[in-house]
Amino acid sequence: MTDLAIGVDIGGSGIKAGAVDLASGSLRGERLRVATPMPSTPAAVIETTARLIRRITRAQPDAQSASVRVGVGIPSVVIDGVTRSAANIDPGWVGFPASFEFRRGLSRGVAIVNDADAAGVAEMRFGAGRDERGVVFVLTLGTGVGSALFVDGTLVPNTELGHMEIRGRDAERRSAAAARIRRGLSWKAWAADLDEHLIAIDRLFSPRLIILGGGVSKNPDKFVPYLTVRVPLVPAQLRNDAGIVGAAMFAAEHGSEDEPALRPVAVDPTDRPSVVPPAVDTASAAETEASTEPVEPTDPAGAA
Ligand code: BGC
Repeated sequence: MTDLAIGVDIGGSGIKAGAVDLASGSLRGERLRVATPMPSTPAAVIETTARLIRRITRAQPDAQSASVRVGVGIPSVVIDGVTRSAANIDPGWVGFPASFEFRRGLSRGVAIVNDADAAGVAEMRFGAGRDERGVVFVLTLGTGVGSALFVDGTLVPNTELGHMEIRGRDAERRSAAAARIRRGLSWKAWAADLDEHLIAIDRLFSPRLIILGGGVSKNPDKFVPYLTVRVPLVPAQLRNDAGIVGAAMFAAEHGSEDEPALRPVAVDPTDRPSVVPPAVDTASAAETEASTEPVEPTDPAGAA
């Protein structure tokens, strides 16, 4: 097996990609980032990803070989290569045979994984979760809240704790990094909402450790001191690269040729009733608790 794979991290605002050295978990060459096409339909995202992969393979000739696998992390529940939900991306992803269609668009094998699961896998191998046993969560605080659950280092996929119900709605509507900016909250006020989410997670799962990732993990001093949850918290170490590195690792370790979704599958788009509409469209409508806290300057980097 080659020690190189390509990782792609599809987010609500940006698509990031790079060639990953699998032995060290670091990027070989540049990390590329382009804006997520709007609307983020499967066709538009696959085309943008194909362009990114072409840029990577031009810069990294060893990545051209078809044996270099591609892993794609996406904010969706992923089962057998089919995307089953769409929270911060176009609803066209619900019930979409993603690994089959990416393979067609990229002309090589592609493994699809939930974006937070990808980031978690990288963080557990190369970052803050190295050698951690027991129940550990990696949470990504960005446009939404992603969760990756590990038991003795093994991933339990698709946990989706951003969509736990707290105060009658999806927890991530208040605890995502983007929610702080959208609602004009101070770090302290946002930390109180995040704390409530973390305490609810602790009540259900009693984790030994929670690793906090996403753009805000580079500023832990701004909010971690306000958190009261019992569980030890540590910032993620791989930061922006975790999603890319983890998607590449997933592709290398899980293969793709034999995934059922490499054949077209008949999918009933109504078979998952709890489809979450794209947050971008519902952001202001869902806000019922406008804060009286002073508005801070927006920090798009922190929400990416
Ligand atoms: C999605 C998850 C994703 C998370 C972070 C949530 O809204 O439902 O699948 O992992 O956002 O992007």
